[in-house]
Amino acid sequence: MIDGTKHSEAEPAHHALDMVMRYHQETKHHFSHFARAPGSLDWANQPDPFRRYEGAPLFALPRLQPKDAPASSLYEDLYRPGAIPSVALSVRSLSRLFEYSLAISAWKQAGEVRWALRSNPSSGNLHPTEAYLLIDAVDGLSPGPGLYHYAAKEHALELRAQWPKEGFMRLLQGFPPESFLIGFASVIWREAWKYGERAFRYCQHDVGHAIGSMRIAAQTLGWRMLLLDGLADDTLAALLGLDRAGDFEGAEREHPDCIAVIWPAGEAAGHATSPMPCMPLSLAADAACDVTEHVWCGKANRLSRDEPVQWKIIDQVVIASWKSHTDRKVVELSQGRPDADPSHHVSRPYSGQTSAGQLIRQRRSALAFDGTTSIPAGRFFTMLMRVMPRVERGLTRRPMPWDALPWEPAVHLALFVHRVDDLEPGLYLLARDPAKVNTLRDAAHPHFDWTTPACCPDGLPLFLLQEGDARALAAQLSCGQDIAGESAFSLGMIAEFESSLRKHGAWFYRRLFWETGLIGQVLYLEAEAAGVRATGIGCFFDDPVHQVMGFNDASFQSLYHFTTGGPVDDPRLTTLPPYGLDD
Ligand SMILES: Cc1cc2nc3c(=O)[nH]c(=O)nc-3n(C[C@H](O)[C@H](O)[C@H](O)COP(=O)(O)O)c2cc1C
Repeated sequence: MIDGTKHSEAEPAHHALDMVMRYHQETKHHFSHFARAPGSLDWANQPDPFRRYEGAPLFALPRLQPKDAPASSLYEDLYRPGAIPSVALSVRSLSRLFEYSLAISAWKQAGEVRWALRSNPSSGNLHPTEAYLLIDAVDGLSPGPGLYHYAAKEHALELRAQWPKEGFMRLLQGFPPESFLIGFASVIWREAWKYGERAFRYCQHDVGHAIGSMRIAAQTLGWRMLLLDGLADDTLAALLGLDRAGDFEGAEREHPDCIAVIWPAGEAAGHATSPMPCMPLSLAADAACDVTEHVWCGKANRLSRDEPVQWKIIDQVVIASWKSHTDRKVVELSQGRPDADPSHHVSRPYSGQTSAGQLIRQRRSALAFDGTTSIPAGRFFTMLMRVMPRVERGLTRRPMPWDALPWEPAVHLALFVHRVDDLEPGLYLLARDPAKVNTLRDAAHPHFDWTTPACCPDGLPLFLLQEGDARALAAQLSCGQDIAGESAFSLGMIAEFESSLRKHGAWFYRRLFWETGLIGQVLYLEAEAAGVRATGIGCFFDDPVHQVMGFNDASFQSLYHFTTGGPVDDPRLTTLPPYGLDD
């Protein structure tokens, strides 16, 4: 598998586009057959979900109790601009950041078998996403700037490279004071071991969830985050040390995904202290790639017994979707707050007193739904408001967490509403960018109604397409999984597919999935806040979904499904604390 190595000799753009389209087409599930995958699971060769760099100095992050400082804010305050004071950068606040984004949140046990769950969800709980931190000296970590790998099992940071101060300063020139970087990379083999050719998609969903969980964790600390999407993937690989073949000798490689800047925003008093009117979307490539003065530490551990199984089409889509150029774009940073969250105008029947940390810790995927729980319309509308990036009013700053993504949103929701009080069951559409309503309408079945539900709040572009009982249909489309029909509602995330790829390039394929993962992460927490539960659904029959919508070409494609409702727990599972079991 070629992930992690350099692909600067990029394919011509049209070849790359054709390849990405072909990968997408060939990894569809059909009623008649599934995308190619191993016939059976080779349990003895299952990749370890925990990467370590052997020989790298390990810095334990303090294990904080829920009430320890920095204690988390109320969940509802995440969405109230300026409500959360910016916490000082320290090893404790970094510990919270990782706890709320990527740490182990519990161990589950059934009989003799025990497995870890984390703050971020993952397709098949396989956790392909690895995280890296590049930061200046912080008390409790290395005395100078350093690149660290996050070791989730230990809740610790392992030092991968010591950076010279001058190189670090040059790298972060143009960013607010105290800015640091978080990078994500995928061990594609972890997903391919189980899911075969469709695994590349699942890795991208998981990156989207990781971006979302990190953005939301940063918000609990009053910090901001922006994806530095202008960076070329070669630069990213060099920056994160993923192109260092010698450090991965005999170990599975990682595919560089993305990097984000996080900074303590200082907005608590109602004013932004950031002096930056604009922020670059890339880093000084020469500073990023000049690793001559770095002191590198550690060798990646081997994750599975045998060599990864080769899936040629994954290797091909890795190359085709590789971003081989740097965009020198900047984004304008609003000095003010984003607009107040419009969902505050919608009635909220649930108490807003739960802490964000509590909901993040308790977030779990529902394994089954009860087929009876319904949710109030007000709460349903709030959930939908929270996934609206609100591009329509020319805001320079979008609401959290959409302020982390620098591109125009390109994903809409096709909703199968089963049990929402005061709302007719049926098929609905939420246009996350209202300017796209007509394009969606032109592409969909002509017989759809496109009526606005009577109780729909102003400014929410939600349309009833067709009334009716969609429970059996939703379950059938999601690979026959009952969780899509026994819930209160389920949905397909409909991407503006071909036009986005033609506009931006084949590398944007991965971004479309990241956007869906971020939508999923918001909805997971919204479900917990509403007293229900959610589950991401990567297994669905692609083209049958498009047929239900009336999409007959690649203009719109469903990339990810999701479901929310009243959960049914499995009493055979025991829950154990996240850390300290082996101390
Ligand atoms: C991208 C993605 C796809 C998923 N697909 C399915 C699915 O098709 N069916 C299902 O039951 N669960 C699915 N899940 C839920 C995962 O199995 C779950 O996140 C994982 O077991 C970890 O559990 P947790 O979410 O409780 O931490 C998916 C999750 C993600 C993030």
